[in-house]
Amino acid sequence: MANVTVIGGQWGDEGKGKIVDWLASRADVVARFQGGHNAGHTLVVDDRTYKLSLLPSGIVRGTLSVIGNGVVLDPWALKKEVETLTEQGVAVSPETLQIAETCPLILPFHRDLDALREDASGQGKIGTTRRGIGPAYEDKVGRRAIRVCDLAHLGDLGPQLDRLCAHHDALRAGFGEQPIDRDRLERELGEIADFVLQFARPVWLTLNEARQRGRRILFEGAQGVLLDVDHGTYPFVTSSNTVAGTAAAGTGLGPSAAGFVLGIVKAYTTRVGSGPFPTELADETGQMLGERGHEFGTVTGRKRRCGWFDSVLVRQSCAISGVTGIALTKLDVLDGFDELRICTGYWLGEQRLDHFPAHAADQARVEPIYEVMAGWRESTAGARSWADLPAQAIKYIRRVEELIQCPVTLVSTSPQREDTILVRDPFAG
Ligand code: IMP
Repeated sequence: MANVTVIGGQWGDEGKGKIVDWLASRADVVARFQGGHNAGHTLVVDDRTYKLSLLPSGIVRGTLSVIGNGVVLDPWALKKEVETLTEQGVAVSPETLQIAETCPLILPFHRDLDALREDASGQGKIGTTRRGIGPAYEDKVGRRAIRVCDLAHLGDLGPQLDRLCAHHDALRAGFGEQPIDRDRLERELGEIADFVLQFARPVWLTLNEARQRGRRILFEGAQGVLLDVDHGTYPFVTSSNTVAGTAAAGTGLGPSAAGFVLGIVKAYTTRVGSGPFPTELADETGQMLGERGHEFGTVTGRKRRCGWFDSVLVRQSCAISGVTGIALTKLDVLDGFDELRICTGYWLGEQRLDHFPAHAADQARVEPIYEVMAGWRESTAGARSWADLPAQAIKYIRRVEELIQCPVTLVSTSPQREDTILVRDPFAG
């Protein structure tokens, strides 16, 4: 049975929530493999809206949901999200949620450090979600992290905490902050430990067994390829690898498990936080895209920057992530425009580029080269088949496919799960 790996093909917020929910209803297991509660996935199920940041989207429908080792886990954010879902009538139990024992924890001082650095950065600010994601990943690769399995051995944490606090106290001193209140930290960890441990499992085993039994696994990526720490618009990126290849390392399965790689791509472009964005529109058109597309961050409520579709960036994302096919989302937001623009290349001074340059200064300097297409007046909202789409909208989709060198697998025409044109079933491989 084929698995499906879903990733964002731009800077996140491509509408993964709806597509993942649709796929999750047909999967046996849904697994997250990177990021943390910086992600924001909105699901609309039977007219109810659910906002998830950390939990895999399968949780809303009771599908076994797994948080892989590649995720950084804030235990208090986990508790809050579970409580909110419980209030909304969604049951979360060890039968429906498993968390890798090897997940590094996001601790309160990671959050502090994220904010202190952002506040001290002025123009160089990354515009992070201030959730402590970056500092927690730093401690993971610095081999200082406290992990989920450590919560079962709190009495032995002394030497680990010594090392961790020594490192962070030095950083905090640099910002004029007090050292970590270690007693409080130990008390808070003690209070939250059992809550987290009820879900802790060797999830690599669960997933490998599921695979052996021919179960369908859906890997749910967060953020987008352009925010990948290696391949994105560095340093204006998140601190994890967001490409599809991470599904394997971030859960404990081999690379052949990824299956069909579905890249979620918005019919235009948005970005939250700082960093280069060649097709950004600082005018009325950008404003209109933002209003029609309700472009406000799920996690931070920040207004998203908006611009035209950039086929150069998406072609690059699809190549880097080995995308099998894309889901084109929010097509309806483009309804009613007289003309639409698609970026097909860049000028870097006198030089014409067909890919995004690596250096941040060049990325900020490139000028987009646009192809202009006629828009359409009719509404595409709620379309469920090609026959429901105006000819010009089909032309736009076909041109996108050509330019990004990747086929369209799905088209999404509203936040409702049913308003989807299915070209090819990703689970059919
Ligand atoms: P961090 O992941 O909080 O460290 O933020 C780093 C960058 O990634 C910032 O530009 C954030 O706005 C962006 N980012 C993080 N998570 C998301 C997301 O789920 N959607 C869109 N952007 C995100």
